[in-house]
Amino acid sequence: MARSEARKRKQAIPPQRGRTATAWARGPQRSEEAQAGHTATARARGPQRSEEALAGLARRSGGGLGAAPHLNKAPPFKKVVLTTMSYVNFTNVTRDYKQGDIVIRAIDEISFELEEGRFSVIVGPSGAGKSTVLNILGGMDHATGGTIMVGDRDITRLTRRQRTIYRRDDIGFVFQFYNLIQNLTALENVELASHIRSQAGDPKSILAEVGLSHRLNNFPAQLSGGEQQRVAIARALAKNPKLLLCDEPTGALDHETGKGILKTLQEASQKGVTVVVITHNSAITPMADRIVKIKSGKVESVIDNPSPAPVSEIEW
Ligand SMILES: Nc1ncnc2c1ncn2[C@@H]1O[C@H](COP(=O)(O)OP(=O)(O)O)[C@@H](O)[C@H]1O
Ligand SMILES: [Mg+2]
Repeated sequence: MARSEARKRKQAIPPQRGRTATAWARGPQRSEEAQAGHTATARARGPQRSEEALAGLARRSGGGLGAAPHLNKAPPFKKVVLTTMSYVNFTNVTRDYKQGDIVIRAIDEISFELEEGRFSVIVGPSGAGKSTVLNILGGMDHATGGTIMVGDRDITRLTRRQRTIYRRDDIGFVFQFYNLIQNLTALENVELASHIRSQAGDPKSILAEVGLSHRLNNFPAQLSGGEQQRVAIARALAKNPKLLLCDEPTGALDHETGKGILKTLQEASQKGVTVVVITHNSAITPMADRIVKIKSGKVESVIDNPSPAPVSEIEW
């Protein structure tokens, strides 16, 4: 049954967006997502996931092996082919910075994929190359090697002008220190962003969504750090970006305020925005759908998380 569903989905997705991958049979929740066309290359991991997968299989087979005698001989896992919806695809991406005669390789042949409408975290120690990855993905910097597909476009091949349009129309950026314009109110900061994009959202409703309808006419200096970061998120979302890129968005905030910001970002991804957060704080990773670990300019691991934790359960 899973096989024919997978085949149907594969036919329904245009080949340039589709990418086949192998996944292991998992619990009912992810199967439903697979039917909705969202499923990742998640793989049952470790003993806990293996047990869940087994329990799922047993449930689907009618509650016991006696009800499905063929499963007595079958291997414990059923291999199914699923089609992923990767939206961002880094392949062997390198960035060298020249300083006189010295070349600093900030990222070294990095490869990973991120999925549309999901919450991804890129984690690693300071100096690992996280900001370099995000700046290149956001069109603020360029790679010196490799390819980066965003949707069906290779952004390493954009001209300067095309890259400006890409950055303006497709990308929302959130920074550690908010980067608001100090002599504009919260509302004016968000309006400014919405002016540069024809398909912008309504600034007042977006500020209401991030919980700031009572702060529209305050200047940044009259707002707390958490409120300023909410304005920055509203400003990024006002452009209706395809990618919301956040560089250490909770780095300047206390624990509780930081959690509030992460909740806002998780809610944005639940509404369909593709959110990428980079952080040195590995405590944030349980809330992500996918975790890319970077160390010394290289990808150390890419892990899918089939059941992301609610922000309320995150502690650091
Ligand atoms: N413009 C630059 N010129 C020279 N070296 C840089 C530049 N930007 C980043 N680097 C170097 O590249 C490495 C990765 O930096 P970065 O991406 O900022 O790391 P992270 O965000 O993980 O802390 C560091 O060694 C950093 O010093
Ligand atoms: Mg950084």
